[in-house]
Amino acid sequence: MGKTYAAITGVQGYVPDYILTNAELETMVDTNDEWIRSRTGVEERRILKEPGKATSDMGVEAVRGLLEKTGTSLDEVDMLICATVTADYPFPDTANLISYKLGIKNAFCYDINAACSGFLFALATAAKFVESGSHKKVVVVGADMMSSILDYTDRSTCIIFGDGAGAVMLEPTEEEVGIQDSILKSDGVGSEYLHQKIGGSLNRPTPENLATGGQYVFQNGRPVFKAAVSGMSNVVGELMKRNNLTAENMAWLVPHQANIRIIEAVSRMADFPMEKVMVNIQKYGNTTAGTLPLCLWDYEDQLKKGDNIILTAFGGGFTWGSLYLKWAY
Ligand code: UT7
Repeated sequence: MGKTYAAITGVQGYVPDYILTNAELETMVDTNDEWIRSRTGVEERRILKEPGKATSDMGVEAVRGLLEKTGTSLDEVDMLICATVTADYPFPDTANLISYKLGIKNAFCYDINAACSGFLFALATAAKFVESGSHKKVVVVGADMMSSILDYTDRSTCIIFGDGAGAVMLEPTEEEVGIQDSILKSDGVGSEYLHQKIGGSLNRPTPENLATGGQYVFQNGRPVFKAAVSGMSNVVGELMKRNNLTAENMAWLVPHQANIRIIEAVSRMADFPMEKVMVNIQKYGNTTAGTLPLCLWDYEDQLKKGDNIILTAFGGGFTWGSLYLKWAY
């Protein structure tokens, strides 16, 4: 019997209806459309405004559409992983809540928190279960409601992020398509530059702690920017080299959507033309774990079976990596 590969057999996204434009942000903080567009590439982002709704609800919408699209019954799903930094609760896991709300009963479910690299880490992890033969229909979700942890008086963070979710189905195949290789990295040195201080076991949400604003995303943008460019271009370059991939034989690069200048720098350093780089940051901003599946969803119509695709991400931790797959349909 040949090798078993884990193939993406469907992708679906979900973004909330509410559009927060740069013009509206101008009325909220000291910023302007020109700065936001030229320094980040973001033109608008989606915000989940409905009372009582949270990250799991966006995940539910994405997974519901995915199951319909792939003709998968609820009972067939045997594993569901959700990558997120904005879980509905510290526990139970958002993956569990997504399954429960949809009526999925035969899956084991858990969350992965690797910040903006979460979807990449979750996809690589899920692939191992499929490749081993133990699981046949694995759903991988990347979902974040960043608006729930943003300080809308901090212009250095609130202009970048948005809310959204995406999901893919992973299934086994004997054909040489699907996930081929990956490089995943972590370095705690980055925790200083990008974090949320309150909400875990170290700093409890006491009134004194909350008064410091530590419940919101903190980012020192410049060091993160530099580390993101070098981190992603290194692992993309290494993955291309060891799989004999070139700008000519690759179809797409799918980078985490954190900043258009980071995306352009990575494409330049990997010697890869921007026409083959997926970009949707202008519509959604940085949706953290949502960016990669939302890109695949937006570009799905343009993908062909056998296309060589590299996904890459960089995020809080630091965490980063790249993953090479051949599109399966
Ligand atoms: O997804 C996880 C990983 N995250 C990332 O990859 C993000 C990495 N970092 C970045 O994308 C960028 O560093 C930011 C978009 C966060 C910031 O852009 P920057 O070009 O690094 O700006 P800066 O923080 O160095 O600030 C430059 C200037 C400052 O003014 P002065 O000191 O030069 O007078 C800021 O106060 O721009 C000012 N500024 C703003 N002005 C208008 C900062 N934010 C804004 C704003 N509107 N929203």
